[in-house]
Amino acid sequence: MIAVTGATGHLGQHVIKELLKQGTNPKEIIAIVRDKNKAQEFASKGIEVREANYTSADSLDKALKNVDKLLLISGNELGQRLTQHTNVINAAKRANVKLVAYTSILKADTSKMILAAEHLGTEKVLQASGIPYVILRNGWYIENYTDQLQNILAHGVIAGSAQNGKVSGAARADYAAAAAAALLGKAKTNSIYELAGSPFTMAELAATITKASGKKVEYKDMPAPDYQKMLLGFGLPAPVAEMLADSDVGIVRGDLYSDRDDLKNLIGRPASTVDSVLKTLL
Ligand SMILES: NC(=O)c1ccc[n+]([C@@H]2O[C@H](COP(=O)([O-])OP(=O)(O)OC[C@H]3O[C@@H](n4cnc5c(N)ncnc54)[C@H](OP(=O)(O)O)[C@@H]3O)[C@@H](O)[C@H]2O)c1
Repeated sequence: MIAVTGATGHLGQHVIKELLKQGTNPKEIIAIVRDKNKAQEFASKGIEVREANYTSADSLDKALKNVDKLLLISGNELGQRLTQHTNVINAAKRANVKLVAYTSILKADTSKMILAAEHLGTEKVLQASGIPYVILRNGWYIENYTDQLQNILAHGVIAGSAQNGKVSGAARADYAAAAAAALLGKAKTNSIYELAGSPFTMAELAATITKASGKKVEYKDMPAPDYQKMLLGFGLPAPVAEMLADSDVGIVRGDLYSDRDDLKNLIGRPASTVDSVLKTLL
């Protein structure tokens, strides 16, 4: 039995789709979700849906019963995640899960981004657990930008503090294909994959959007404190504004750049590019 946490999230839905696409019997998939009401589509496909919260050991014990392989999709509650992920790993140990794959962040061991600390902490807990593991260090989602496309086109501007830093981004579907590959035994056990796509700068992103949409879009760089202030002004919660500005500073350092081929090799095809994601969107 293969279980996927965060199955109703953006990445989780892609992973379930990918498992089915690769021929996995729906009866061998367990979707672990916080709210069953959001998972009716899975149930209609014959996938077992189990409710659990990363904060509740009891719910995790029930959800992980008879699970052989588990994809732990990192949570989205900043600051809570190391404790939450540790709960999941401890429950996986109690349930005698044979493989845990975890969605970490690119270069988690050297990255100085705020986001990296909880991921590296989780990696260490997983490695110390004795459970066979695959660590999937996901690079940035191209969708972090393309999900803002309407806004970008409306204002003709991408704002940020990334300067000329490069992002080796790929689409969620690519990272999901890598996760499915790991769950289906195509990744080396007890290893770390640095998952990166084709690199682009923010100016190149703006130029690609301009070309694909026919609407002039420019990249406007600003000092990180100004960017953070601007995001606060748009109504983003303070920790999110801080995290986004800090991530752009990480991009300048190269924290989200990698020339490794792990993603392409694991999924057996090149990852999506900004251009291909935009073509689908537009
Ligand atoms: N590489 C990148 O560029 C990037 C960007 C953003 C985030 N991330 C990381 O990658 C993860 C997956 O990305 P995504 O786009 O799929 O994010 P997402 O749509 O926010 O999905 C997060 C999933 O985690 C579940 N979750 C959160 N807290 C939980 C808890 N306490 N107990 C049980 N489940 C919990 C959510 O459940 P519900 O469905 O009930 O909400 C959701 O399914 C994120 O959570 C974050 O750690 C990476």
